[in-house]
This record gives sequence, C-alpha cells and structure tokens, in this order.
Amino acid sequence: MPGTPASATEISSDLLARLADARRRTDDLFGVVKERNLYERPIPERHRIVFYIGHLEAFDWNLLREAVRARPPWNPDFDRLFAFGIDPVDGGLPSDQPRDWPAIDIVRRYTSEVREALDASLEHASRVADGDTPLDRLLHVAIEHRLMHEETLSYMLHCLPLDQKQAVGQTPSPAASAFRPGMIEIPAGRATLGLSRGGATFGWDNEFEEHEVDVPPFRIDRCMVTNGEFLAFIDALGYERLDLWTAENWRWRSECNITHPAFWKREGGLWLWRGMFANIPLPLDWPVYVSHAEAAAYARWAGKSLPTEAQWHRAAYGTPEGGERRFPWGDDPPSPRVGNFDFERWDPVPVGAHPESRSAFGVEGLLGNGWEWTSSVFAPFPGFRSFPFYPGYSANFFDGKHFTMKGGSSRTATCMLRRSFRNWFQARYQYVYAGFRCVSA
Ligand code: AVJ
Ligand code: FE
Repeated sequence: MPGTPASATEISSDLLARLADARRRTDDLFGVVKERNLYERPIPERHRIVFYIGHLEAFDWNLLREAVRARPPWNPDFDRLFAFGIDPVDGGLPSDQPRDWPAIDIVRRYTSEVREALDASLEHASRVADGDTPLDRLLHVAIEHRLMHEETLSYMLHCLPLDQKQAVGQTPSPAASAFRPGMIEIPAGRATLGLSRGGATFGWDNEFEEHEVDVPPFRIDRCMVTNGEFLAFIDALGYERLDLWTAENWRWRSECNITHPAFWKREGGLWLWRGMFANIPLPLDWPVYVSHAEAAAYARWAGKSLPTEAQWHRAAYGTPEGGERRFPWGDDPPSPRVGNFDFERWDPVPVGAHPESRSAFGVEGLLGNGWEWTSSVFAPFPGFRSFPFYPGYSANFFDGKHFTMKGGSSRTATCMLRRSFRNWFQARYQYVYAGFRCVSA
C-alpha cells in the first residue's frame, strides 16, 4: 500500500548491518571467479554461476518487496528466472547453454536496481515494537539464505578448475595437536531437538517444534573420521565390496565409477587434496569429506554406523548431570578457539585442532570443519508448519532421499551454529563440505 505511513520504530539496525555484511561476503565470493568464467557450471547437477548472481537479489526482492512496500516489479521475467535453484533427483542433468542466459551486464543491472529499490524501502519500513515480527523474520530469512549460499557457492567454486579463479588469502591451519582416535561412552539420557515457537530465536520452518527424545546408551567417535582413516577403507577395497553398500548406492558407485572421495585426486601414485586454491599432498589428519553413501559404506566396513540426529545431539549437548548445553563447549558464543567456521578459512584443519571445543562428554570438533552426516532421513519434527512466505524451503525435500547433517563447516556463518539448525543433502551428493563420525552400541 503506497502512501501508508511508516510507524515510529525502525527495523533493528542490527539486521540491516548483518544484511549489508552478508552482501559484502557474497559480492567478494563472486570476485573469486575470473570474469570470463562466470557462465561455467562447476557442478553438473547445479546451475551455471551466473544464475546465483541473479538469484541472491531476486530471492530478497521476491521475499521482501511487498512487505517493505517497494516499487512494483519491473522485470518479472528475471524475478522468475532467478527465483529458485535446482536439486535434481534421479540423475537428470540440466542441459542449458551459456547463450540461454542473459549477458552479465544485464544481470548486474538487474541486481543493482533490485538492491537499490529494496534498500530505499527498507530505510522507511516499519516494524512492530518487539518479538519476532514478520518483517524481522523475513530479514532473518534473507540474511541466512544469503549466508547459506555463501557456503553452497563455496562448494561450487571449489569444483571450478584452479586456473578459472583468483586466489584469496586464508588463515593458516593451526599446528596439529595430537589427534586421539577412539570412542567415547555416552550414557542413556534425553536430547532436546528443535526450537520452541514461543522463543525469541529465529529458526527455519524445519527447526520447530522443540521436543525431547530418549536416547539409549551408545559410543561415538571422539573426532571426525580423517582422510588417513578413510585411506584404510580404500586400501581394504571398500569401494569394491558390494556388501558394504546399499543397492542404490552400489549402482551409483558402479555407474559413475566412484573410487575415492571427490575432494581427492590421484597423481603419480600419490593422493592429493583438491583444495580451494591449490592441490596439496593429502593431509591425513583432516576430516574426510564424502557423500552420505561413502560415509555409510565406511561405517559398515568398520562394524559401526552413522549417528542418528538424536545421538548426535546427545553427544554434542548432553551432560553427565542431565542438563543440556547451548553449545558443545558450554555457553560462550562461538570463537576461533573452538572451531573452524565463520569464513576464517576455505579448507579444513586437523580434527584434533580444537581441544577446547570438547563437549561435556569429551567429544571434539562438533561445530565447524565439516558438516556431519547422520543416519536420519531429513523429515519434519512433530508440529512442523511451513512458512507461508516460503512453503517449499524444507517441505520440498521431505522425500526420503535427503539426510540430515549437523555441525557446520569452515564456510558456515556463526548464526547457523545454533543447536537447532539442520542442514540436508542427497545421499550421493559428493560436493559438500561434509564428513562424519561413527557410533556403535
Ligand atoms: C539448506 C543448504 C540444503 O542449498 O539446497 C538455498 C539452502 N535453499 N536456497 C540448499 C537453500 C534455497 C539449501 N540447504
Ligand atoms: Fe536459494
């Protein structure tokens, strides 16, 4: 309704600052790609890079335009073209060509016009005094959506050939503190999953409602499984043993001739790690990044399994006294002392690098340095309701083919390290910064 007077209170300036900060990050990330390579498709299942340049602004525009009473749309074709990404199931690959996409100058004109129009309206937008008002919630959605893409675009650009990007500096990996393999006993107890609708914390639709789960006793790996440990699975011909794979995963393994993690490369009889900006000799004490299919085969080979979402919660947040912590290490907010996250680095660090990250039970490195696959199919919690303004965010993926991941990677923003945050990908998707740890009875 143009002309409606704005109420006295403004949108919290904190949210506007966070949106500006997230925009700076994604702008910088596209700067990693050499200009002539913006129409490449580094991951065969996903869109070309240029789509995501349009997508980040189109998403915000489609989400916020009416709520902030911005000017009417003037490029509805682009609003639609850039509205949604793709997540093809069952092997169908996109076949569009670079010439099917608008020229980069035209895309950039659209994105800067959208941004300016939104910003002009946001400055005047009103909000009701307190609580998680609709507009505040929409801004959280815009900010976290962009930050999630900062991460998924990092996976994507990770796959871009090295000569198509310009390197950006990164914090050096900390000196490896001794990595102690082994498992930790977790006694029977309860785990609180999810987020309470009554609270002040923002959460996505799939985080609600809060509920408790009884978890029988189990043992869990102290640290994530390393490249070195995974090498033993390869040397034991794990990729050739049909008995370790589900039928669907075995078919994928065979048809796509998967013989090692996608982040590894064999050269001159040596294993290399394909880093973001350089290939290096395989760091044996870094977490292995693999698909759910490969993680599950390893676990089976080791006579173990992947943790359920509830087991992971219990190991991370439970305490011997029965209470639960806000973060695995306690109540302090995340800092670089306790994990490799929040864009400090592009690549992982050794699994034992953050002894201060230990949970009450002594489990290490649960947040950051790689998401962790669980054995839990991504599914709604009791009381789930999708957001009316974004009905497909989670519901489109409740198809039994996606698995829940917990934790975070080096490219996960601090705000998404909250206890209730859930991530998900398909079982045979290999390009995520995701690894695993195992459990046993
Ligand atoms: C939550 C990371 C699985 O990238 O598919 C971005 C996030 N959804 N735009 C994805 C998302 C729509 C989503 N993940
Ligand atoms: Fe998106």
